[in-house]
Amino acid sequence: MERISVGASKKYEVVIGRGLLDRCGELVSEVKPACRTALITDDIVDGLYADRTEQSLREAGFSVSKYVFPHGEQSKDLKNYERILEFLLKEGLSRGDLIVALGGGVCGDMAGFAAATYLRGMDYVQIPTTFLAAVDSSVGGKTAVDLGEGKNLVGAFHQPIQVICDADTLSTLPRDIFADGSAESIKYGVLGDRDIIEIFSKGKVQDELSHIIARAVKTKSDYVERDEFDNGMRMFLNLGHTAGHAIEKLSGLSITHGHAVAIGMVIVTDAAEKLGICEPGSAAELRQILTRNGLPISTSFTGEEIGRAAQSDKKRRGDSLKLVLPRRIGECMLYDAQADRLGEIFSLSEAVKR
Ligand code: NAD
Ligand code: GLY
Repeated sequence: MERISVGASKKYEVVIGRGLLDRCGELVSEVKPACRTALITDDIVDGLYADRTEQSLREAGFSVSKYVFPHGEQSKDLKNYERILEFLLKEGLSRGDLIVALGGGVCGDMAGFAAATYLRGMDYVQIPTTFLAAVDSSVGGKTAVDLGEGKNLVGAFHQPIQVICDADTLSTLPRDIFADGSAESIKYGVLGDRDIIEIFSKGKVQDELSHIIARAVKTKSDYVERDEFDNGMRMFLNLGHTAGHAIEKLSGLSITHGHAVAIGMVIVTDAAEKLGICEPGSAAELRQILTRNGLPISTSFTGEEIGRAAQSDKKRRGDSLKLVLPRRIGECMLYDAQADRLGEIFSLSEAVKR
């Protein structure tokens, strides 16, 4: 078992290991006295892991009521968020009680947003069960739901009080959903972690799972500690996300987050090469790593379509936004782009429809 501290405005630990689900009650007791707990999960994770989580929490003295929502990004909306709030009220949870988010990034983001806003804020624990949630979304306190106009447009920064990552839960992930987490992990590699690039280049991911998660969490917590509220350094974590979020939206959410981010990373790496910012050959290297790990490297949308869909990106400040562009695999920069030039920039890539 490894414990990584995140020193954000609220300090907390990410506990990573195997077999932790059956010990989650004991672990949560370290940071919160027994209280009422709302266990929030989706209908797939419910069948796989909710009973063990509930049992462990009960054994540690927590009372548990469970809220289950239909799986998938389509559920991360205001309607389901409202239903969660109504459930918390019906179950009589007070500000001193606890939400436990058991699941992937959709569950963590939405339950986290409910925790940020219910009675003006209460504690929550993240128990990530997807690779993506383990390496990225469960850490850092970004909580949100989507609007029809775009992803994560309503949300809050609200740090969990603990993250419990049981790597054993990732063994039931379908290949495609596992690949979503690979995309976010490879992102850390492109930003600066050559060790991660080596692991994904050689395809040794399963052997190194806990190591990858720990490394990713350390990297992410470093960005979060330096810029919790996303005004500078943390923006680097949005590599591939401006185009990626737009692709998710254009696809009617049928392209998953990690897959869209993979395509988004190829688009900006191609564009950075064409702009003379990025070392030639970087996009080819990235394409090879992504393909090897079951991720897409092109889209059927045009650069102009993606640029238009990205106009509502929440990172936009006035008429411009900061795009993360690679200089090489292992180093990136922030690039000020006029919002109305995004289509032109994305169209430089061979990954978009011509
Ligand atoms: P998800 O939560 O929809 O999970 C993907 C699918 O996997 C779901 O169908 C789920 O039921 C299933 N699943 C979960 N755990 C499983 C398991 N152990 N075995 C089998 N099936 C399992 O999607 P995700 O990829 O985890 O998260 C994507 C979301 O995360 C997006 O909404 C994205 O915007 C968000 N995100 C947030 C942050 C952040 O910092 N808050 C960072 C990255 C992504
Ligand atoms: N996933 C981007 C961030 O947490 O900032």
